[in-house]
This record gives sequence, C-alpha cells and structure tokens, in this order.
Amino acid sequence: MTQEAATVARGLEGIYVAETKLCRIDGQKGELVYSGYDIYDLADNSSFEEVAFLLWNQRLPSRAELAELKEALRRERPLSPLNTRLLNEMNGLVRPMRALEIAVTAAGALDRNSSDLSQPALRRQAALLTARMGTVVAAFHRLREGKPIVAPRDDLNHAANFLWMLKGEEPSELEAHIFNVALILHAEHEMNASTFAAIVTASTQSDLYSAIASAIGTLKGPLHGGANDAVFRTLQAIGSEDNIEKYIDEMLASGERMMGFGHRVYKTTDPRAIILERLGHQLAEVSPEAKWFHMSTKLRDYLLQKFEGRPLYPNVDFFSASVYKMLGIPNDLYTPIFAVARIAGWSAHLLEQYADNRLVRPNALYEGADNRPYVPVDERG
Ligand SMILES: CC(C)(COP(=O)(O)OP(=O)(O)OC[C@H]1O[C@@H](n2cnc3c(N)ncnc32)[C@H](O)[C@@H]1OP(=O)(O)O)[C@@H](O)C(=O)NCCC(=O)NCCS
Repeated sequence: MTQEAATVARGLEGIYVAETKLCRIDGQKGELVYSGYDIYDLADNSSFEEVAFLLWNQRLPSRAELAELKEALRRERPLSPLNTRLLNEMNGLVRPMRALEIAVTAAGALDRNSSDLSQPALRRQAALLTARMGTVVAAFHRLREGKPIVAPRDDLNHAANFLWMLKGEEPSELEAHIFNVALILHAEHEMNASTFAAIVTASTQSDLYSAIASAIGTLKGPLHGGANDAVFRTLQAIGSEDNIEKYIDEMLASGERMMGFGHRVYKTTDPRAIILERLGHQLAEVSPEAKWFHMSTKLRDYLLQKFEGRPLYPNVDFFSASVYKMLGIPNDLYTPIFAVARIAGWSAHLLEQYADNRLVRPNALYEGADNRPYVPVDERG
C-alpha cells in the first residue's frame, strides 16, 4: 500500500493482529470467555492452576494432569540464590514492578535453554515463571519490611501459598478463595497492551523471558495494569464517603481521568468487576478495611451518574483495589499481583505465537519534511 492510501489506526483500535484460541471478549454484552469457558463459571468452580492448564492446552485437565501441573509449579516456587541476592541488593532502591522485571530477566539468564523455542521448552519456562513470580513479589515485600523471606509451602495451592509467603500467616478459607478467584480473573484478556508487547518481542524470535519482561514493563503503566494502584490512591485521597462528590467533580473538571473506569473493549461493566464486587461484599463482612469497599460502591454509583450517556463503566481494576486492601495487601503490590496472574495468559499467547510466528513489523505514516539539502554543521545558522 502506498503512503498516500494509508490511514493510521491510532492505538491500533479495531485492528486484529493475531488468531487465538485462548480468549473471546464481547465488549457490548460484557462477556469474557477463556477457551470456551465463561468467566463466571470458572470463577465459581475453578482454580488458578486449572485455568493455567486450560490456557496452555485449550482444555481442562484430568485429575492426574492437574496433579502433575501442581507438582511442577511447586518445584519451581523457591527463589534461586541469584534472585535472592538481587532482591537483597535492590531492597529500598526499586519499586516492585521493576524488581519483578529484573527477577524475570535473572531467571532467563540462569536458564541455559532460554533460547530453546520448542514447545516443550517453552512450556517448562512458562511453568517456571508462573510458579516463581509470586515468590518474587512476596519476598520483595518481606525484605522491604525488614522481615525474613517466607519459604513456599507445598501443602498450599498457588493462591493460598502467595498470601502465606507475603504475610507469614495462613490465609482464612475465604481469603484464599477470593484471591484464587482474583488470579483467575486476571489470568488472561485477549490482545491487551502487555500481551501485544510480549508478542512483538517474541516475533523477533527473542526468548520467552525477554517477551515476559517486555510485558511486565508494559503492564506497569496507569492506563493498563497500574490502574488498580491508582484507584486505591484515589480512594485514599477522597478519604471518606461524604467527600466523593466534591473530589470527583473537581478531578473530572480538571481533565483528570478516573482510573478503574473505561475500557477499550468493554462498553458495559467489565464482568470481572461484577465478580470482584460480589466477592467484595463477602470480604467486607469480616475485614477491618471494609471502609474502602463501601466507598468504592458509592464512588461507582456516583461515577455512573456523572458519565451517564457515555460508555464509561467500571473495569477489573476498580474493585480489585478495595478487595486487595481487604486481603491486607499493600497497594503498590496490586500491579505486580496482576502480573503474577497474567503470566498464565501471556505465556499461553507466546506458545501460540512461537508455534506460528511471523515478525510483527507494522508501518508508520511519514509526516516529516522531504528533500532537504544537507548543510555542514559549521554552516548552519
Ligand atoms: C482504558 C482506557 C485507556 C481506554 O481508552 P481508549 O479506548 O483509548 O479511550 P480514549 O482514551 O480515547 O477515551 C475516550 C473518551 O472517554 C474519556 N475517558 C476514557 N476513560 C476515562 C476515564 N477513566 N475517566 C474519564 N474519562 C475517560 C476520554 O477522556 C475520552 O473523552 P473525549 O472523547 O471527550 O476525549 C481509558 O478508558 C482510561 O484511561 N481508563 C482509566 C485507566 C484504566 O482504568 N485502565 C485500566 C483498563 S483495564
């Protein structure tokens, strides 16, 4: 196509860049489906480990396959000595998303087969990172609190083990259940920005670790995964329910966006926000931090009224902020936890990409000057 005939799809909106068997979203109806299974069904019945298997294989596992995957994940949970040293060195110097990116790069550096792009090798790498990233985030937090790193426990599932490593105490059944569902909800979401970043990196036949590091760097921004932390900071700034209207009116009047609202694909409430709100009600009955959840429901009601007539609704990040707060998780870990879940989806897309790769190399429409004569530096005015 000539430059004259080309148009730019800003933000690649409406452009399909891949075929996938992993995830279907209907943004008008508010539907989210992982390989044929509705997100409501998975949230009610499944586990994060099972969803990871589903994404990597496009089918649910047998009992034996699930046990095998759980065992593989348990084996990979402990930190490598290099990771432990790096986390200690970085303590107090870097923020958690950077620490996670560095840890993934370090895991790649230690993997002698990192450049093996065969499907069995990629599956091993995906399992390693899926198991390890939670340990890294928990250890990062323990060290900055001046507390010893808590070793993973083999008798706990992925969700419960993360809360155990983070806090050094076993979560209640309700907490473990809700965190498991939160991980499922964040595990996959079609061609979002971080998944696309991973795909672009992989399309050059760079390795999976580098692709995941690209994804983590992309998830960090407040327009993507960073929104959950930003939502909590907004709740903090609002302070109390009676300040919602004044704060929001001023914020929107100054042109600022409300994080956790709006979505490129959903033009109705994100189903993940609906599920998180339901879980939030359960947690609010027992959590000393219920205030943030109650504020969130009031804030949502007010924003829906403010945005009436516009396709702006709560997305996954809106209620994850107060739900994570009620689970006793510090707000700067919300985005790293998003990555701890999304590694399942990222790596599943990478399995698809490496199996049928073509370099991702779009074009840019040139709008600069042409036909300029070169002037030596001393002759320039
Ligand atoms: C997610 C998001 C980046 C999608 O953006 P997009 O599809 O590119 O939509 P645009 O940025 O073009 O926004 C469209 C319009 O809605 C407005 N808008 C979008 N999200 C908004 C928000 N959260 N608060 C206030 N206004 C918003 C924009 O200002 C724009 O208005 P305009 O047409 O008058 O200029 C955007 O909704 C946003 O910034 N949300 C907050 C961040 C967030 O929660 N991200 C997590 C997504 S899971």
